Formats: sequence, structure tokens, C-alpha cells
Amino acid sequence: MPGHLLLSSMGKQVLRPGGCKLTEDLLAALDIGPGDHVVELAPGVGATAKLIFERNPGGYTGIERDEQAAAQVNAKAKNHRYQCIVGKARETHLSSHSCHVVLCEAHLAMQAEDRRRKIVAEAFRILRPSGRFGIHELCLRPDSLEAESQQRVREELARATQAGVYPLTVPDWGDLLVDAGFQIRHQSTVSMRILEPVRLIRDEGIGSTARIALNILKTPAARRRVLAMRRMFRQHSKNLGAVAIVAVKPKR
Ligand SMILES: C[S@@+](CC[C@H](N)C(=O)[O-])C[C@H]1O[C@@H](n2cnc3c(N)ncnc32)[C@H](O)[C@@H]1O
Repeated sequence: MPGHLLLSSMGKQVLRPGGCKLTEDLLAALDIGPGDHVVELAPGVGATAKLIFERNPGGYTGIERDEQAAAQVNAKAKNHRYQCIVGKARETHLSSHSCHVVLCEAHLAMQAEDRRRKIVAEAFRILRPSGRFGIHELCLRPDSLEAESQQRVREELARATQAGVYPLTVPDWGDLLVDAGFQIRHQSTVSMRILEPVRLIRDEGIGSTARIALNILKTPAARRRVLAMRRMFRQHSKNLGAVAIVAVKPKR
């Protein structure tokens, strides 16, 4: 089972490398308000969607591949102008120039390069001129990390998480957006500490953290996997981080 699905089956809601802190930073930089129609690509079960709803955007559309996850986002949406539909991030079927903000967290790093470019191009297509695109993804560091070392870290990540994971350095994430036509406005980074106790409690709360820990302890196969993932993250803590970038679609 891919690592993020294993963790969510144990009750984990926040499945992104920089946790809630980097998400709050991203949302502040996106400056979402009542005049904005927001599109969230791959919202998962809607932990960030809930924070977006608190900013009362004019509209919200989530595009999530997993039906059950989409239903959980819709359960959190207490407004008929907010909905999550089952679909693909690279092909939303939304109209061109139809939204003010697009965001995507912990999804692009799990896509191979061609798909990643298609998703960023789709974000560019559906945004209005001056629209904002925000990403929160796993990154490699330092920026000067050699290609060979980058590849080694990706291979070990894929082994530990049983999923294709293709993080980039911060400058390479920036280039991906600039290549699609965006202009970078903001970027920030934090350490990748998704399975560390302090971060777990900050992201999930004490009650949920205790439930997650109990579920993992009760399930030997899950315990082995989670401990192996954490060991791998600790071994490579110097080379792994989380980045948030906000970019703008230029006026014509
Ligand atoms: C690691 S989770 C991140 C969820 C959420 N953004 C978060 O940060 O907690 C990745 C999500 O992407 C969804 N997903 C995977 N492929 C997708 C696709 N092609 N289109 C839309 N969603 C997709 C998965 O179902 C999952 O909910």
C-alpha cells in the first residue's frame, strides 16, 4: 500500500510534508478572500479545504480522484458554492480563465515529469490573468544536491513509501512553474518531519495522534512500514524538506 494511503488508513488526516504550518503559510501568501473562486487539486480528505472554507471564498471546487475522499471534503463544505468533484488534476474539465486561485499540496511530487507538467499547465489554463497558483511539496536539499544523490534519495523514498515519489530541489520546483508561464511571488521551506511526534501532535492534535499511534501499534504490518518510513526520513533528513511556492499568472 502506498505510504500516504497506509497513513490515512491509520487515521492520519494531514498527508503533506510541511504539515499545517507550511499550509498556513501558503494560504496566507495566497491571500484568499470573498472575491475568489478557489480550485484545489487533490484535496484528499479536506484538511486544507476546511481552512479555505474559513476564509469564505466566493466559490470552491475540489478535484479529487478518490470518491471516498471527495465525499469527506463535501461533508466539510457547508455552502452550496463549495463542492468537490471526482476527477483528474491534469484534466479538470473546468473552463479556461475561470478561477482566481489554484492550489495543490502533496500531489505533484508523486507524479512523473510529463504528468507534473500537464497538471501545472492545467492550473495555468483555468486561472484568470493575475490568478495565483500555490503548491506545497516535498523537496530535495540543498539546492546544489548532485543529480546522482537526488536519484538515490528518490529510489530510497520509493522503496520506503511503496510509491513513485519524485521530489525536486526548490529551484527546480520554481523552474517547473516558470516554464509553464508563471512568475514566482513567494517561497518558503520547512523541515520534513511528518512522522516526528511534535509535528504529529501539531498537525493532528493529541487525541488523534493517540488514536493513530494505537492503530499502528495494533497492526504489526503497518507498524513495520511506518517505522521503516520514519527511519528512511530520518536517515535523509538533511536532504529532505518541504516547500511552499506561490506563483502568479501574468496579465496578458
Ligand atoms: C498525499 S495525498 C494529499 C492530500 C491533500 N492534498 C493533503 O495535503 O493532505 C494525495 C491525494 O491525491 C489524490 N490523487 C491522486 N491522483 C490524482 C489525480 N490524478 N487527480 C486528482 N487527485 C488525485 C489521492 O486520491 C490523494 O487524496
